[in-house]
Amino acid sequence: MTANGQTTNPAGRPPHGAMRELNTEERREWQQTTLATPPRPYGLDARLQFWLEDLVFGKERTLPKFRAREIVARSPYWAWEQAAFFLAGKVRDRSTRARRLYDSLTETRTEQDNEAWHVVILEELIAARGIQENPLRFRLMPQLMALGVYQQFWLLRVLNPASSYRLNADIEDHAEHEYAALVAEHPGWENEPFPSDLASGYAPYESLADLFRQIGADEGLHKELSLARMAQGESAP
Ligand SMILES: [Fe+2]
Ligand SMILES: [Fe+2]
Repeated sequence: MTANGQTTNPAGRPPHGAMRELNTEERREWQQTTLATPPRPYGLDARLQFWLEDLVFGKERTLPKFRAREIVARSPYWAWEQAAFFLAGKVRDRSTRARRLYDSLTETRTEQDNEAWHVVILEELIAARGIQENPLRFRLMPQLMALGVYQQFWLLRVLNPASSYRLNADIEDHAEHEYAALVAEHPGWENEPFPSDLASGYAPYESLADLFRQIGADEGLHKELSLARMAQGESAP
């Protein structure tokens, strides 16, 4: 247990949410596969969100843009967690109702926690590089977008769960491809260390490129989880 009472994982590190921890070689393979795989056929709603993000945060792959997107990426899980309390009343059987609510809260929390780790790591890297950004554009706008996306996903989860899971799979697939491209754009990151007490609690890594590959692979897992929920239909958590 950590000082604040959290259970640690077997490696003695604090919980870091929904992730499949890869080794350096597996992370390289993940990047090659992702770069060679075409994106999903994104829905109009997803394309609108990506267009809006480019408009507000710029087209280039910058660290403040990735941090902003990570803040927004928490919203679907936050909305699903909240909607679970609302939807629990649809189930009559007491044990099924409790179990489904518990599973839903647990799963959506782990994905939110993992996205929060991504934000924290980007925050530290931006601070370490001394990057100055416009606070209205990169601090306030992500908050407003996160609130909008929260409402969109809450409504979709209640009215049309399949489209809610499909839209999130599109967003996660896009994030996965963006991280693969970001690492490819920075060959210097292959040998650049990133000493951080906090990030080493997320996962062991050998370089900045290695760390970002793990983050990108997390997005691929989130996509898989959303597609699995879509396949499960009504009984999905
Ligand atoms: Fe993320
Ligand atoms: Fe994600």
